[in-house]
Amino acid sequence: MPSIAFNNIVKKFGALTVIENLNLSIGDGEFLVLLGPSGCGKTTLLNLLAGLLEIDDGEILIDERDVSYLDPKDRGLAMVFQSYALYPTKTVRGNMNFGLTSRGISRAEADKRIAWAAKLLQIEHLLDRKPSQLSGGQRQRVAIGRALVKQYGVCLFDEPLSNLDAKLRNEMRMEIKKLHNQLRNTVVYVTHDQVEAMTMATKIAVMNKGVIQQFGTPDEIYNEPANLFVADFVGSPAMNLLDCVVRQEGSDLVAVDEKDSIRINLGEYKWKVGADDGKPVKIGFRAEELLIEERVDAGNTVRFDCPVEYFEKSGPDAFAFLTMSGKSIAVRIDGRDANRYRGKPALPVYLPLTKLNVFDAPTGRRL
Ligand SMILES: Nc1ncnc2c1ncn2[C@@H]1O[C@H](COP(=O)(O)OP(=O)(O)OP(=O)(O)O)[C@@H](O)[C@H]1O
Ligand SMILES: [Mg+2]
Repeated sequence: MPSIAFNNIVKKFGALTVIENLNLSIGDGEFLVLLGPSGCGKTTLLNLLAGLLEIDDGEILIDERDVSYLDPKDRGLAMVFQSYALYPTKTVRGNMNFGLTSRGISRAEADKRIAWAAKLLQIEHLLDRKPSQLSGGQRQRVAIGRALVKQYGVCLFDEPLSNLDAKLRNEMRMEIKKLHNQLRNTVVYVTHDQVEAMTMATKIAVMNKGVIQQFGTPDEIYNEPANLFVADFVGSPAMNLLDCVVRQEGSDLVAVDEKDSIRINLGEYKWKVGADDGKPVKIGFRAEELLIEERVDAGNTVRFDCPVEYFEKSGPDAFAFLTMSGKSIAVRIDGRDANRYRGKPALPVYLPLTKLNVFDAPTGRRL
């Protein structure tokens, strides 16, 4: 299955530069998710790869072949559009067949592929219906089937699940992931849904304003966000962030807040860049890393006593929202404990010192 590389890609719409000097490459069989807020350039990048838009500079390689100026049909890729784009007058079978026999694939081979995809997607009983006689989820599967029967090594998806209800979205997410595990094709998948990104991707490229903020595995993106944008965009609730200043105290580096109400020893932090005395930083930590009750296996912790704001409960999980250093922070707790903690004016919070993230406040860069 093919590898993909974007080299120094520039894309402008008139005077507006939407993508500026973008570099990104993935190996074969990878499931790349382009993740970012609305308008950041995800669809543009996908359309450049598909050949539906033309680059203004740079080159796009598929399997080390320069496809930058090839016709979409010659790039060897299939695309699933957000809008499904099914032909309303054709049946499901006709939609899936479109572009097969007209491209010289024999009738027998086309039938075989359609039967295979229909079975995989559980739409065999729908083959003779028109799109108007299908539910949204069924139409979605037809659109995926139409891409699969082409049996190209690269499959592109543009927010394919955004029109589905939450339950169906979860089901289809698993189906697409299972399909990828079976077929091991190369996938580029666009979404602004970080749950989709975290659960499906082998690699995620987080984008903002046409610039890749971080490229890495889901674990790298989640555990070591490269900057404040990624820290804030990925994860729900977003990473807790406190405004602090770094102080050198004897041989110790500590982060203190303005009111000197918190002191966090940075001795166990794995610096990428480092920080000097007086540097304004944001200290980040995830809701699930905080503990209400001290645990020996959490290593060195620092304790804060935090006023309680409110609790949010959803099934087995709950979040306690507490005040720390004048800001609201989220702490994940067991849903069964929520009632036990409710009514207390304040709770102790233990922050494990190995679970910190330190960002440069002015630039947002991970330090
Ligand atoms: N044909 C066009 N002409 C001018 N500007 C465009 C055109 N297509 C897209 N843009 C602009 O380029 C930027 C990126 O758009 P794009 O569709 O790639 O965003 P996106 O990340 O896919 O967003 P969404 O999540 O909302 O689909 C936006 O600012 C958009 O307004
Ligand atoms: Mg889009």
